[in-house]
Amino acid sequence: MKIDGVAWRPIRAEDDGETVTIIDQTVLPFHFETRRLVRMDEAAEAISVMRVRGAPLIGVTAAYGMALAMRDDPSDTALGTAYDTLHATRPTAINLRWALDRMRAALLPLPTAGRFARAWALAADMAEEDVEINRRIGAHGFDLLREIADRKGRVNVLTHCNAGWLATVDWGTATSPIYQAHDAGIDVHVWVDETRPRNQGGFLTAWELHQHGVPHSVIVDNAGGHLMQHGEVDLCLVGTDRTTATGDVCNKIGTYLKALAAADNGVPFYVCLPTPTIDWRVRDGVAEIPIENRAAGEVTDLDGALADGEVARVRVVSPGSDAVNPAFDVTPARLVTGLVTERGIVAANEKALAAIRTDDAAISLS
Ligand code: MRU
Repeated sequence: MKIDGVAWRPIRAEDDGETVTIIDQTVLPFHFETRRLVRMDEAAEAISVMRVRGAPLIGVTAAYGMALAMRDDPSDTALGTAYDTLHATRPTAINLRWALDRMRAALLPLPTAGRFARAWALAADMAEEDVEINRRIGAHGFDLLREIADRKGRVNVLTHCNAGWLATVDWGTATSPIYQAHDAGIDVHVWVDETRPRNQGGFLTAWELHQHGVPHSVIVDNAGGHLMQHGEVDLCLVGTDRTTATGDVCNKIGTYLKALAAADNGVPFYVCLPTPTIDWRVRDGVAEIPIENRAAGEVTDLDGALADGEVARVRVVSPGSDAVNPAFDVTPARLVTGLVTERGIVAANEKALAAIRTDDAAISLS
């Protein structure tokens, strides 16, 4: 996607063939900065402090992190250390393990001399696959928006957190149908959940949509139910960090409440996901998916721009109070209208998901 008319990706392999550049998402939207990742531990740091975030982008960054490790030391020991270090960065997004497993399976059988070249090429393949997967998700999701537009004109979509191009290599998942509909001339407007505590909606989704010229309004996280009751939301499109083999959807904290409100108001609730976000080993999302607990300071404090543009952190909770910060929740499959995947839109149940399962790790880019 474009920033001020220039095509960007949140991660990009450098022409030197041995380093990568990321957009540092911790300083958006008030500053735009890039950062060069040279060593594996820098990739791990970028994931854990959320310079890169979003399930698909976490996976691709980890793949490049593994490649950086192989450039410095292609031994089995270094490969194991890289796997463990990168895997420990964030616990919930399954794309991380999916990417690392795929890298390890490809690299371990090789002689050490060939490992870096193979790792670099495979990480690049995974990045390109992610772009194509998200393009296809958008093409399938486009039909949902077009059907509403044909019926009533303007389409009001509600989205939570940032499942946009910043969370992937390009297009985004939940935003891909939105961008494709907007580009095709459909009158689409997006309700952007602010998504406290880190404001990925108000900071990142709003910034992306603004850059692309998509009409949108940021709302506080508590406003969605009210808007749904008053017929102001035609459908919800969200992303996911891990979806179970039975269709339970783990996503940014607050997604579950939006699904409850959508069900109560008859608003379709769709989840956009690449199939690498499905954890085929997990059946009960609430019981089995590890939920990341992040620092209390993300709840008690907030970053923002002062009138003169300077970015400052302020306390927004009464001094002396503690806070807890579960970063994700699980929406049971029964609340999900459908799953928009690169292989089509399917019901959120075990049978429908099994029908699109393939053991091929890679997708065809043709
Ligand atoms: O904590 P984050 O910002 O990594 O959480 C991101 C989300 O919850 C996204 O909705 C999810 O990763 C899907 S991204 C296409």
